Amino acid sequence: MDIRERDSVARVLEEQRPSVVFHLAAETHVDRSLDDPAPFVAHNIEGTFQLLEAVRGYWGRLSASERAGFRFVHVSTDEVFGSLGSEGLFVPESPYDPSSPYSASKAAADHLVMAWHRSYGLPALVCHPTNTYGPFQFPEKLIPLMIIKVLSGDPLPVYGEGLNRRSWLFVEDHVDALRAAAERGEPGGRYLIGPAQDHSNLEVVEFLCDLLDRHAKDLPKRPSRNLITFVADRPGHDWRYAVDRKATEAALGWRARRDLASGLEKTVRWYLENRSWWQDILERRYRGERLGQPVTPAQDGGKLGRDGTVDAAR
Ligand code: TYD
Repeated sequence: MDIRERDSVARVLEEQRPSVVFHLAAETHVDRSLDDPAPFVAHNIEGTFQLLEAVRGYWGRLSASERAGFRFVHVSTDEVFGSLGSEGLFVPESPYDPSSPYSASKAAADHLVMAWHRSYGLPALVCHPTNTYGPFQFPEKLIPLMIIKVLSGDPLPVYGEGLNRRSWLFVEDHVDALRAAAERGEPGGRYLIGPAQDHSNLEVVEFLCDLLDRHAKDLPKRPSRNLITFVADRPGHDWRYAVDRKATEAALGWRARRDLASGLEKTVRWYLENRSWWQDILERRYRGERLGQPVTPAQDGGKLGRDGTVDAAR
């Protein structure tokens, strides 16, 4: 259901009587937020507000001991802290400085969650994971998109020079961290979740190419590295994300177990063995085209609509 439908969410809460709510319902793709920010504001901000209100009503009717044990685990992102230079790490005290409509909408949602904790006592905490990857990821994101394009023999669009850096978290490690946050996290706490290392996008794409050359029998073109194509950069592209995990590891007793090499190998195998899952998406929902190239008023000769949408006459 749509999390903005407060009454429907409230009904599910009354039926299921959860002791933890994990809030992962969000618009997540930076490039899509550049093309159309409206759903990001609607779902990430308004949606979080409505969900918080539904949860506050449910939580308020629990017994005192159930209320104390309840947790609202809000899944944010490290992107709310903006961009790092070549050095340094985000820490829980890093100031908010979001760059994209996506990260700004997540920042707004975080502020709502923390305000519901401080103002109403809702036992909520915020997790800031780094870039997540693994099986079942929608192919708009870098890693599945590159795998699928190699398998189709299409060019691999690497933004800019491929030197932007990200910290990649395998989905199962991420899930373990969220469980740990629900079990051991402090209400009002903030937990940075990620691996020890960050990597340039080009390193990741080259590694994927080599894995696919090894594991895929029927590649239309090889070596896959020849498909790498440098394309125009993403507007406002954050340079680097990396988190200091020490406080989280100490507080939650969690650490990422899977290194990038084995996580990527597992992911590549999954996409090789589950072609019908992503082929269906390519046919019906997303064909792998470039996203996040908004038309600016300067490029557009002023035809951009006042609400930011391109004028219908175009
Ligand atoms: P993405 O998976 O969109 O995650 P995020 O923007 O949240 O970090 O992108 C990861 C990195 O890969 C980011 O630096 C942008 C880059 N990128 C490309 O170079 N080419 C692509 O086609 C995509 C989707 C992303």
